[in-house]
Amino acid sequence: MSIIIRGGTVVNAGSEACADVLIVGGQIAAVGSDLDAPAGAREIDALGAFVMPGGIDPHTHMELPFMGTVASEDFFSGTSAAAAGGTTMCIDFVIPAPQENIVEAWKKWREWSQKAACDHSFHVAITWWDDTVSRDMGILTQEYGVNSFKHFMAYKGAIMCDDEVLVNSFSRARDLGAIASVHAENGELVHRLQQEIFAKGITGPEGHPLSRPPEVEGEAANRAIRIAEVLGVPLYLVHTSCIDALEAVTRAKLEGQRVFAEVLAQHLLIDDSVYRNKDWRFAAHHVMSPPFRSKEHQAALWRGLQSGMIQTTATDHCCFCTPQKEAGLDDFRAIPNGTNGIEDRMSVIWEHGVRTGKLTPSEFVAVTSTNAAKIFNIHPRKGVIAPGADADVVVWDPEASRTISAKTHNQNIDFSIYEGMTVTGIPALTISQGKVVYEDGELKTVRGAGRYINRPCFPGYWHNQTLRNQLAEPTAVDRS
Ligand code: URP
Ligand code: ZN
Ligand code: ZN
Repeated sequence: MSIIIRGGTVVNAGSEACADVLIVGGQIAAVGSDLDAPAGAREIDALGAFVMPGGIDPHTHMELPFMGTVASEDFFSGTSAAAAGGTTMCIDFVIPAPQENIVEAWKKWREWSQKAACDHSFHVAITWWDDTVSRDMGILTQEYGVNSFKHFMAYKGAIMCDDEVLVNSFSRARDLGAIASVHAENGELVHRLQQEIFAKGITGPEGHPLSRPPEVEGEAANRAIRIAEVLGVPLYLVHTSCIDALEAVTRAKLEGQRVFAEVLAQHLLIDDSVYRNKDWRFAAHHVMSPPFRSKEHQAALWRGLQSGMIQTTATDHCCFCTPQKEAGLDDFRAIPNGTNGIEDRMSVIWEHGVRTGKLTPSEFVAVTSTNAAKIFNIHPRKGVIAPGADADVVVWDPEASRTISAKTHNQNIDFSIYEGMTVTGIPALTISQGKVVYEDGELKTVRGAGRYINRPCFPGYWHNQTLRNQLAEPTAVDRS
């Protein structure tokens, strides 16, 4: 089956041009003017539309077992909702329990992801350490297409890593040519603040941000960055939410360190006033970590994105329905952490980024697709409209609008953090692997059609950073 998309503006991270796009099988075959189409090809008129690489969400949690429950969105419903919003690939997380074999955990997640409708891949979290974990990190990179290892610096008593695990895992990741990543919050401090705040009688969701102030994130971000610097491993910070962490990233980048930062669409658009809402259900549905911040932090995150200090946008899509959130009715510490957004990310960033003039369409493509493809080493297979790339494409109608609501969205959650927000600029049509999976408001995704995408490790020069403290080769003192 072939498709020819005619007359749209093709937008890549570095260019915008009026061109046709020919898709043959699962790949882009040609991009150019007045292309000939094979007999029987479907013609799509894209006049007035932008033709862009499908979005890549580098941070999702489908059907994650977490905080005593399981995220309500599964790999089929989640990747379908993604397609409805113009996102054609996600990178989810294998999160082994402490002492669980990490290769077995990968296999368990892969079993779950067999139902995915769109392409996907896995980061693997390192939650404990011994020689078998070190060995299995090697197996995951060589045989299972994993090039990124994630570390939770928070969630004490569950999946939190101490510095010993960070140091062991970062240096192993470096030796393998993989990238390290962190959820940067000081879990010890969070734990202490949670106890103190609860003891003061603050039991509702307003206790959540009080126990996770920006300093807690800034400290952990800086610690992870410095550990990565000393060990010479590239580092990716997920969900950077505050000035404190952004300043640590900026300083490291200005020093030449290979550090990347992600921001969530929701941290750009929602502020911390949500936690003081009188409706417990509303406030609890915003409990995620790091929490939403004040407007001052939001403005800084936008500037970070505009300046290139932040490279990617994600969602941390981790859905819990109201009865699941109610596990924490009497204790904010028991509210499962997570919010929705995989269907909305592209539109809300278009609305508040492109339509406000903060981002150009090309910059939008960079931060919603291309940069993630480059950082996680799947470019130019993904993240670009060019011959040879996978045909993951979104035909974007910049004039069409939708008002976001849990009543009409495709995400498997009874709440939307963007409820009532009207966005102009939505997908008219989404193509995954050369097949139309969403068109004019209708999902056409197929259960199980999504592939697991292997991500090879990086060439050695990624890891050959010159350390500030090792400019000269270290030598012993001759005391003979
Ligand atoms: O609150 C969040 N972010 N839930 C998902 C797990 C994580 O920390 O990424
Ligand atoms: Zn996290
Ligand atoms: Zn997450």
